[in-house]
Amino acid sequence: MPAVVVVGGQWGDEGKGRIVDLLARKARVVARYSAGNNAGHTIVNERGEFKLHLVPAGIFYPDKTCLIGNGVAVDPAVLLDEIAQLESRGVDAHRLKVSERAQVVMPWHRLIDRLDEELRGAGAIGTTGKGIGPCFTDKVARRGIRIADLLEPEDLAPRLRAVLDYQNRLITGVYGAEPLEFDACLEEHLAHGRRLRPFVADTQAIVIDALRAGDYVLLEGAQGSLLDLDHGTYEYVTSSVPSSTAGGATLGVGIGPTDVQRAVGVFKSYCTRVGNGPFPTELTGDVGDRLRDHGKEFGRGEYGTTTGRPRRIGWLDTVAARYSVRFNGLSALALTRLDVLEGLPSLKLCTAYEIDGQIVSTLPASASALRRAKPVYEELPGWDAPVSGVRAFDDLPPQAQLYVRRVERLLGVPVDLISVGPEREQAIIVNPIF
Ligand code: IMP
Ligand code: MG
Repeated sequence: MPAVVVVGGQWGDEGKGRIVDLLARKARVVARYSAGNNAGHTIVNERGEFKLHLVPAGIFYPDKTCLIGNGVAVDPAVLLDEIAQLESRGVDAHRLKVSERAQVVMPWHRLIDRLDEELRGAGAIGTTGKGIGPCFTDKVARRGIRIADLLEPEDLAPRLRAVLDYQNRLITGVYGAEPLEFDACLEEHLAHGRRLRPFVADTQAIVIDALRAGDYVLLEGAQGSLLDLDHGTYEYVTSSVPSSTAGGATLGVGIGPTDVQRAVGVFKSYCTRVGNGPFPTELTGDVGDRLRDHGKEFGRGEYGTTTGRPRRIGWLDTVAARYSVRFNGLSALALTRLDVLEGLPSLKLCTAYEIDGQIVSTLPASASALRRAKPVYEELPGWDAPVSGVRAFDDLPPQAQLYVRRVERLLGVPVDLISVGPEREQAIIVNPIF
């Protein structure tokens, strides 16, 4: 059986966790393949609300194997904390396995993330500050520490000494900050290694075995595609190698492209972005505030799961979305948070940009050109009736049906799934994805 990839189509926080949670029902294995705990998922189920940063959303099903693939940057303290939290609330975390090839987010990564943002000043990226960018930088520079290293006490000490010596030169010389201490760092990571040992495995072999046995494998992307290093709004992107786009999924778990059958893109019914960078359809007035605070009293407003930052809000940008559909090779869309749009007199869809007097329908590579882009909008009627109780497409208000159909048309891919609330059941299956 083939693997199915689920990716975020915009700038993150599209509700992938919720969609993975739904699709996981049919899968045998659910695997994260990129990024790190810069990601954050909120999942609501019969046990209550959970916020996950590293553990795949499939962990709530008792019969699924959940994997953190070789492509993920793992902060061991965060992972151990998440495991402890799950277990304290009755979720068996021993079905979770972490790749021995995954990179470790080290204390200097978190420190350098912060120092580097300070150094950039007004040009700061607006990172989550979790050390993810510096960790992947070191991976590519062949200066990373991997999970396997934490399990080899004899080898860890010399490796750590050499790497830390380099990092301390950077920390003191370039950033003018205090160096990190070797002994404390070694002790801490040997202890992490001891605690993580039962969870470490050859995750690639688990994925391959499942595929060969005819089981579905769900590959869970983290950040949104428009934060991709190559295709995103550079340099306001996230540094993950492999990337969180559908193309990164195979590398991040160790399978080939022919093993992937479908790529499902999750898109919000509007747009959000946290951190800095161009955002043509951004809404700064009342409508933006209203969308951000929809459901805020239930903790559902548009505030970051990882950092608590208010998210920037905008109308759905179909220029950016169409680009994302193409480079991800999406075969189906899941449209989330349709309920948030209810009660607005009219809705807008951005169908092109006007840049320096020219109409363009593709995403420019240059961040400054994108900053000058004025969205060209198509206006559609809104609807008043709440949709959170709707379970069939035909029962949606006609204006909501029109909105979904128009999005589908503009993106050229069918909307197979619509979510209308945070609960597992608050979904409309338009076409079965599996
Ligand atoms: P980093 O990934 O912490 O380096 O942050 C780089 C950019 O990606 C910043 O704009 C972050 O706000 C954004 N980003 C990283 N992870 C997420 C996420 O899970 N959701 C939304 N934005 C994210
Ligand atoms: Mg998130």
